[in-house]
Amino acid sequence: QAANIAADRVPDMEKRKLMNLLLLGAISLPTAGMLVPYGSFFVPPGSGGSGSGLIAKDAIGNDILATQWLKTHPPGDKTLAQGLKGDPTYLVVENDGQLATYGINAVCTHLGCVVPWNPAENRFICPCHGSQYNNQGRVVRGPAPLSLALAHADVVDDKIVFVPWIETDFRTGENPWWA
Ligand code: FES
Repeated sequence: QAANIAADRVPDMEKRKLMNLLLLGAISLPTAGMLVPYGSFFVPPGSGGSGSGLIAKDAIGNDILATQWLKTHPPGDKTLAQGLKGDPTYLVVENDGQLATYGINAVCTHLGCVVPWNPAENRFICPCHGSQYNNQGRVVRGPAPLSLALAHADVVDDKIVFVPWIETDFRTGENPWWA
């Protein structure tokens, strides 16, 4: 009996040590990894530093490179990328073939549907309740109460970086409602 108990206990102790090690590892590794994202999360937006920016991603999650993008997106093009806070955001190619310095948040200000670009009408037209926005995302027909939000679209080392837009909305001359 005694021998049996001793034999049972030894592996138990080993197991407990192992479990403790595993637990420690499981807790400390993600904690260390999460410090960086949490740290940058709390950097106040719009401080102008690249800390508040986010590299625009294409539909499958790859970084978008400006030169590549402009090869396949002609003047006037508006195509969705993944933007700040995961919001679908339009990258705009200006008529001169340059990338616009702003992106247009595609989330309808009425009830949040993603608003498609309609090139034939030269407007964004929401399929949910018919709100319309001009080619810069300014609301021109309700029920949407507000224009589509903006983000800066900067190019850094050929990567397109979205940065929160906290300045005056150049389309309305008003303070940004989203900031
Ligand atoms: Fe776009 Fe209602 S959600 S019009």
